[in-house]
Amino acid sequence: MGKVVILGVFVADAGFRADRMPRMGETLLGNSFSLGPGGKGSNQAMACARSGADTHFITKLGQDDFAEMAQALWDNAGITAHAERCADSYTGAAFIFVLESSGDNAIIVSPGAGATITAADMDTQADLIRGASVFVTQLEQPMDAAIRALHIAKEAGVATILNPAPAAALPDGMLALCDYVTPNETETEALTGIAVATPEDAAHAAERLCELGVGTPIITMGEQGAYLQGHGMVPAIRAGNVVDTTGAGDAFNGGFAAALSRCETTLRAVQIGCATAGLSVTRAGAAASMPNWDKVERLL
Ligand code: RIB
Repeated sequence: MGKVVILGVFVADAGFRADRMPRMGETLLGNSFSLGPGGKGSNQAMACARSGADTHFITKLGQDDFAEMAQALWDNAGITAHAERCADSYTGAAFIFVLESSGDNAIIVSPGAGATITAADMDTQADLIRGASVFVTQLEQPMDAAIRALHIAKEAGVATILNPAPAAALPDGMLALCDYVTPNETETEALTGIAVATPEDAAHAAERLCELGVGTPIITMGEQGAYLQGHGMVPAIRAGNVVDTTGAGDAFNGGFAAALSRCETTLRAVQIGCATAGLSVTRAGAAASMPNWDKVERLL
């Protein structure tokens, strides 16, 4: 069993399903509501643990009911949490709008205590990060913390994955700390200035990411699959009707990281990521939609 260390954020997802987004000033009747665990880092840890990896999650929480939700989730999934409880902040939350007809989503996330994670916190966790086979982070916690953790991992020879979500401009040199980056189309455009709609666009953008120092870019493209530099398109794997796409990218990253940690080839790990994402969109919610390894294996 490989060891994966993930830095990121937990938030409670308040999910609203409706036939369309309300206009400014309008009140709209929704079709349903759910409250459940989310946050990109925590979702990725869930996908990774359910894929069978020894999964450690570094984050910060408040001292409130959402923090209890987080701890119960991780305990149940066998995730080892390194989560400081902050008395002067709150556990974050996200507004998740899900379009009833397609399952597509739009999100506002407020990371709360997750926004107070610092580079110095990463120094405190340095031994944990150095002891991993794979290190993963995203951009919902402060950039400084992500950069410091990537430095620590890279120097120790740990495979590094940056899922650059939500989209942001990155400081010079940050991409050179990444063995893998896994942006979607929007995030790829934010990083490279190249709009991605087709595999040819993805190939062009991936070349640019390599020039910026990335080891192997992997551009996730929803129902088209993922573009893997040096290979080409890895097709998406459909596992059923699309119910909710929230957390699909997280499913990909968690499944991919777990596969890398048990020494699968990069191509096989991307196929596993695609299968994990394909299963996750057939179920509602984010963390709750992450599939167990037996389901992924059967689908593949
Ligand atoms: O990637 C999906 C996640 O993004 C949601 O669970 C939400 O919490 C936001 O962080």
